[in-house]
Amino acid sequence: MNVDLYEKIWMYGTGGMLTLFFGSLAVSAVGGQMQPPSHVETINPARAMSDPRFATRGVWQDDQGGVHVTVVGMMFAWLPDHVTVPSGTPVTFHLTSTDVIHGYQIVRTNGQSMAIPGYVSQFTTQFAPGEYLIACNEYCGLGHHAMAGRLTVVPAAEWTGPGMAAPAAAAPPAEGGDHAAH
Ligand code: CUA
Repeated sequence: MNVDLYEKIWMYGTGGMLTLFFGSLAVSAVGGQMQPPSHVETINPARAMSDPRFATRGVWQDDQGGVHVTVVGMMFAWLPDHVTVPSGTPVTFHLTSTDVIHGYQIVRTNGQSMAIPGYVSQFTTQFAPGEYLIACNEYCGLGHHAMAGRLTVVPAAEWTGPGMAAPAAAAPPAEGGDHAAH
């Protein structure tokens, strides 16, 4: 098949760019440990603040010692807006929203998830010691730019423990299915 030189240049150019773009995507996904969420749990957004899973918010530990953080997003604040966790320890975040979609982004880490009314988002990651900005990265209204929080990561040996007891419903099944019953 005879392919015109000019067309060949475009073909190889396009192929090269596709390789470059998909390659950089793969490298950043693997290198940055980016993963899609895989957790589906629902909640009534109108009653999220009194739901046993979110009635108390902050840092807690399960009976295996796992560190958890429970956060509610609303226009225009994260509740709580400051949490302190130990370094080098897997921390599981549980998020929801009472109004619109917010984005919980722990800047300069791979900790990030949307907070969606009606759903409980969950992700687990760990951090190096330091102070991190938590930004809202989904436009949620006029106060969006002011919706920020702070994550303090202290060396594991200096961590003074969770700020609260584990919620009554520490590991609830998704609505409509009771895993404990099976
Ligand atoms: Cu909340 Cu933007």
